[in-house]
Amino acid sequence: MALRLGDTAPDFVAETSEGKKSFYEYLGDSWGILFSHPADFTPVCTTELGTVAKLKPEFEKRNVKVIALSVDPVDSHIEWIKDINETQSTTVNFPIIADPNFEVSKLYDFVHPNASDKFTVRSVVVIDPDKKIKLIITYPASTGRNFDELLRVVDSLQLTANYSVATPANWKHGEDVVVAPAIKTEDIPAKFPKGFKEIKPYLRTTPQPNL
Ligand code: BEZ
Repeated sequence: MALRLGDTAPDFVAETSEGKKSFYEYLGDSWGILFSHPADFTPVCTTELGTVAKLKPEFEKRNVKVIALSVDPVDSHIEWIKDINETQSTTVNFPIIADPNFEVSKLYDFVHPNASDKFTVRSVVVIDPDKKIKLIITYPASTGRNFDELLRVVDSLQLTANYSVATPANWKHGEDVVVAPAIKTEDIPAKFPKGFKEIKPYLRTTPQPNL
């Protein structure tokens, strides 16, 4: 059955470009992002992996460990990484899972047979430190992902995990957030001492509480 938000992310052991890894051991107590790629030596994937390598400091700042997956063997990944480093002017600094038998891909529902039975789609799974799945986004092979959006989503997930707030459309770190509907308006001042605006009884905003 397909994985859904709130499910426990399945553990696995797999060969990667950085050796054999247990997924849970790799994640430790960090947040995790597992993202799948249709195949090695493909143009969009090459740009995506280069982009993630350049964003590594941003992921580290947020205590997120990233790991990619492609359904080719390790020796292919190693050769491909040389191309990624050369063409994207970076150094791939995270493991790429080799999944030639689609074991991890099937576990995480990365194969969508009506899109392709040979390649995985471009999925992203965000996992919290309790190993619960907090986000799944799936793109077709022809559309490269926006990794700035993933950083934005992680900011929202980490904020909303700790405060009774939600983040509005197009929210970015530093902007006002909305108070969770479960909080009564009379309880807001005690919980959010920076103040709040009541635009409608169900739409109350407050400055981002963790700044
Ligand atoms: C790519 O990564 O460029 C790609 C992979 C499969 C189909 C289309 C594009």
